Amino acid sequence: MKDILNAPFVTEMIRTTASMYGQGWDERNGGNISLMLDRGQAEEYVDPGQVLRTIPTGFSAPELEGRDFLVTGTGKYFKNVRYEPEADLGLVRLTEGGTQAQLLWGYSDGGSFTSEFPTHMMSHAARLRTDPENRVVMHCHPVNLLAMTYVHPLDDRAFTRTLWQMSTECLVVFPDGVNVLPWMLCGTTQIGEATAEKMTTARLVVWAQHGIYGAGRNLDETFGLIETAEKAAEVYLKIAHLPRLHTITDEQLHLLEQRYSVRARPGFLD
Ligand code: 13P
Ligand code: ZN
Repeated sequence: MKDILNAPFVTEMIRTTASMYGQGWDERNGGNISLMLDRGQAEEYVDPGQVLRTIPTGFSAPELEGRDFLVTGTGKYFKNVRYEPEADLGLVRLTEGGTQAQLLWGYSDGGSFTSEFPTHMMSHAARLRTDPENRVVMHCHPVNLLAMTYVHPLDDRAFTRTLWQMSTECLVVFPDGVNVLPWMLCGTTQIGEATAEKMTTARLVVWAQHGIYGAGRNLDETFGLIETAEKAAEVYLKIAHLPRLHTITDEQLHLLEQRYSVRARPGFLD
């Protein structure tokens, strides 16, 4: 059995949580990540017959039956994961239609997975239907996107178009755009269902007055997705109160589609 602390999925998770903290996206215990492992990956590091604890999930997710996830713990500080990975992370296997999570490693101080576990698992299920290669769901509280939800209409198309206009690379990085949920109570199955619904059409879902969710094929790609949207939101907040002399036009956005072989979300460009 190999040492799980050297597993690429653990070391990449540690690097990612540290980077996210460095960006200021994850104050205190803010933010959470879940990474779905490939089948058979966990067995290189843990014995699935040795279940440390079984934790009820409070929802069902039959599509994720038997799948393994590395998940940040609830109440854990991203700034600390590198120093205490075994307490701050957990490796769980979903069983009994996703209603139970078998703890195979981690949460060594008696902790549990993030309070946003319903949103993570439901979003994984939704993204996997669209993209079987999806592996990551990431949540954080980036300041500019958060601030933007106080002053910008919370309409998916309008919010997306504003971000696309704030930096040339946005349309190329997230051609599927950004979906937006109004304020809802976090940590619930209801916000999980609503987020998963929004995840069927975009890999980014903004939670108004709270933060953002990103989904992707690996940790770097998902981090980069949020990073790009957050930078666009920063530009927006720098210019929103100034007279707009120039913008990126829809005609120019169509040129980007052609040059980079991407297709903007249908109906989002004029
Ligand atoms: P957790 O500490 O339970 O992951 O919650 C942090 C958070 O960002 C809630 O939305
Ligand atoms: Zn949050």
